[in-house]
Amino acid sequence: MKIKEQFAADLQKQFGEHLDSHNIYHLIEVPKQQEHGDLAFPCYTLSGKLRRNPALIAQEAANQLEDAAGYEKVEAVGAYLNVFLNKQLTASAILARIMEEKNNYGNSQVGQGDVVVMDMSSPNIAKPFSLGHLRSTVIGHSLSLIAEKRGYKTVRINHLGDWGTQFGKLIAAYKKWGSEEKVKQNTIQELLALYIRFHEEAEHSPALEEEGRLWFKQLEEGHADALALWKWFRAESLQEFERIYKLLGVSFDSDNGEAFFNDKMQRIVDILEEKQLLTESEGAMVVDLSEDDLPPCLIKKSDGATLYATRDLAAAVYRKETYHFGNSVYVVGNEQSLHFQQLKAVLRKMGYSWWEDIRHVSFGMILKEGKKMSTRKGKVILLEDILQEAIELAKTNIEEKNPGLADKQSVAENVGVGAVVFHDLKNHRHNDIEFSLEDMLRVEGETGPYVQYTFARARSLLRKGGYQPAAEEVNGCDREAWPVVKQLDAFPAVINRAAEQDDPSQLAKYVVDLAQAFNKYYAGTRILEEGKWKGQRLALTFAVSIVLKEGLRLLGIHAPEEM
Ligand code: ARG
Repeated sequence: MKIKEQFAADLQKQFGEHLDSHNIYHLIEVPKQQEHGDLAFPCYTLSGKLRRNPALIAQEAANQLEDAAGYEKVEAVGAYLNVFLNKQLTASAILARIMEEKNNYGNSQVGQGDVVVMDMSSPNIAKPFSLGHLRSTVIGHSLSLIAEKRGYKTVRINHLGDWGTQFGKLIAAYKKWGSEEKVKQNTIQELLALYIRFHEEAEHSPALEEEGRLWFKQLEEGHADALALWKWFRAESLQEFERIYKLLGVSFDSDNGEAFFNDKMQRIVDILEEKQLLTESEGAMVVDLSEDDLPPCLIKKSDGATLYATRDLAAAVYRKETYHFGNSVYVVGNEQSLHFQQLKAVLRKMGYSWWEDIRHVSFGMILKEGKKMSTRKGKVILLEDILQEAIELAKTNIEEKNPGLADKQSVAENVGVGAVVFHDLKNHRHNDIEFSLEDMLRVEGETGPYVQYTFARARSLLRKGGYQPAAEEVNGCDREAWPVVKQLDAFPAVINRAAEQDDPSQLAKYVVDLAQAFNKYYAGTRILEEGKWKGQRLALTFAVSIVLKEGLRLLGIHAPEEM
């Protein structure tokens, strides 16, 4: 049973003629104070429709509901209908359901037969994997896991930044100063150093710029030498990124990046021409978007080179034709919101009705002491180093608190990486977030390790209690457990809300709330004490462990059994 749904269904029987079920459901409130009941229904809307006093409506509704199953007490207070649920019945129903469905609890089929394309991560090769790309990766990963839980098929795409004039420059620099050995050892650092050196030297040597341009031309024309180097840079970079993806537990269905669309852009240009959407502006070809109040979208530069936007247009069409998506999501920082507005506007002008199914899921920046973490100037902060540092810190904690733990390395990885991921996802994606490893790894407060720790505690209780799950034995719960039961009941609704708002932070906050409710219960109750309630308490603990683990999984975080 879902508590709110049941109440809505009961109200529907009474008021279905005047209010549809959707309206009823959304009017139901959860009172802040327990003395106002578990759920409340304000009768103002009905009063407007029926032209009757809301207090009278509430009173009549209360009389009607009094004998319905599942309620302990039903009360009209002013315009409100307050209900107190029968805790025994409700708890039994919820616990039995979780026990039966296990990690399928919260699954739904809303997305059945529908495909979501998730453009996520998408770092630029030969450049460091930035914290912005980390955000895109973890938000995209969580959103795709949530979508799958709701029955969607997902296609995760790593739209690598692997094309552009910078690769001409990089080849020129490598030819002059590069060493194969060094690039192999430390790809990103080396390539970045070459790139920076190119820019420094080009300042006094215009000939170098010209060399870079020539190499890019060679690359575009497919000359073997240039192409081989580009391929090598790409493969080495991907290998480095792969180490990060492995730590994060993320994989992709496609890593077709920008270069993949080189031979697919002419078609876009042809369509634009045929529809007379291309205009010339200072030698470049653009699509005018003034009727959308947007700056023109640049399609071709004066030297004929295509651009980021052209490749994204080709990619959007390719994805529609290849995957037949119902939704195409781009998890990219909010500094690119203009780009995606332009993308949608051009697709609309091209006559693709599915332009509306494109969604830019944007996010804020990661800051260090209030400032943007820069990779261009000064020191490069490598994500891999950050993750390794988090893992080391987690390991130190384990050595201090639980030196006898088996499999320390893998637990430290789960905790360290989980801490970084959770810290990102617990903030609403639009907010800028402050980067602090110490904060992330705290075992108290709203952190990944706190939730993981609560899960491990629950598992340990179950082991100590020799618990074997058996749904048919679930029978009510003690009073103190009620807040925990209500949290457990909320899980499916939270998943839906997180999905509808593209907002994993709802889920992150939820697992913290559930962990807190359970820890409060744990502090006030002797769960393992022999007696009437032991079985129920362990059943509750079991249900909590399932939901915590599944909630963390949907955030892309692994929950170790012990820590
Ligand atoms: N590589 C780009 C960047 O780092 C992000 C690409 C996002 N995806 C896209 N289809 N444009 O800024």
